[in-house]
Amino acid sequence: MSDIELITHSPEETQKLGVYIGESAQAGDIYLLTGGLGTGKTYLTQGIAWGLDIEEYALSPTFVIVRELRGRLPLYHIDLYRLDRAEEVDELGLDEYLYRNGVCVIEWAEKGLSVLPPEHLLIEISYVGETDRRFRFKPSGQHYVDLVDRLKYFIPNL
Ligand SMILES: Nc1ncnc2c1ncn2[C@@H]1O[C@H](COP(=O)(O)OP(=O)(O)OP(=O)(O)O)[C@@H](O)[C@H]1O
Ligand SMILES: [Mg+2]
Repeated sequence: MSDIELITHSPEETQKLGVYIGESAQAGDIYLLTGGLGTGKTYLTQGIAWGLDIEEYALSPTFVIVRELRGRLPLYHIDLYRLDRAEEVDELGLDEYLYRNGVCVIEWAEKGLSVLPPEHLLIEISYVGETDRRFRFKPSGQHYVDLVDRLKYFIPNL
């Protein structure tokens, strides 16, 4: 199937998009976020956290790589920014989070694509303008194709 994309026009719209994703999330889901500095990965993750009924603000984990938040499902917010090589991702032992009953959101997933699970929802974010960001959804595996199909019903303009 073809990729699906939409543009948000403010940080709040990106959070709202995240809320839809969080509300649709199922145990074991893996969302890989790519896009470079300041594209909105953390804003989207905050929305996902809210959609999972997590009150805590999912601030960008600058000094920690994995942050665990409790909600309808646990959210494992992983940020690979500080890593230089994919092998370092392997050394982190992320399997502990990736194959549990929570939702994994991985910022800077481009740093570890080769060692991250092949079945996932890749969300590529790109800078369009000062307050515009493009989100491209690329599902790998039937579970994520179905997830994107469900999201299409919920998210306006998707
Ligand atoms: N449509 C938009 N969606 C999200 N953020 C936006 C948007 N327009 C402008 N912004 C701004 O872009 C920045 C996004 O910050 P955020 O921390 O989410 O980026 P990030 O991708 O997590 O960056 P980093 O690579 O540093 O982790 C914020 O300053 C926000 O105000
Ligand atoms: Mg961030």
